Amino acid sequence: MRSIFALGTAAACALFATAAIAQQGPPPPTPEQKAQQSVELRQSVFKLLDWNNKPMGAMLRGQAPFDAGVVKTNATNIANLAEMIPALFTADTSSFTSVKTEALNNIWTNKADFDAKAKALIDAATALSAAAGSGGDAAALRPAVITMGKACGSCHDNFRQKEQE
Ligand code: HEC
Repeated sequence: MRSIFALGTAAACALFATAAIAQQGPPPPTPEQKAQQSVELRQSVFKLLDWNNKPMGAMLRGQAPFDAGVVKTNATNIANLAEMIPALFTADTSSFTSVKTEALNNIWTNKADFDAKAKALIDAATALSAAAGSGGDAAALRPAVITMGKACGSCHDNFRQKEQE
């Protein structure tokens, strides 16, 4: 095994020079930039939740036939994504007024309640996935899809800004 001491002087100098350059790098993100990154990260999870939820909304509205396979896959995805919600909100961004977000500040004064609403979504999505997996038809799946949708709405009612006009 060659240790660093066995390297030629030139090679060793190059090594330390590289380390010095790596240390200079770009400046570390400001607290505002970090908050902005946290917001974008959590919003991307909600976009994915929405993407998985939409086909089930179409089924409820009769715009697509009930497909237990799609319901099972998408409900499983929603349960897995919803697991990430509590951790994605450990960064309290409420003091950064320059950061664009629809999240209400009361999330961080009621974090346990907020997390419970994430848990309600996980439970509803898990139940829906199980029902779809056991070959549920439209009549059986419909109420479970509605219950899951209500879990989204219940959190939005309390913790997300209402639609801006
Ligand atoms: C535990 C609370 C909670 C649950 C459950 C929840 N949401 Fe949200 N949702 C939020 C909050 C808070 C925001 C605002 C995030 C932000 O702007 O920082 C949001 C934002 C969104 C957005 C906008 C994302 C964007 O582009 O900025 C969509 C779409 C969305 N949610 C869909 C859903 C769907 C669909 C479900 C259910 C499958 C769901 N949400 C469940 C709290 C929740």
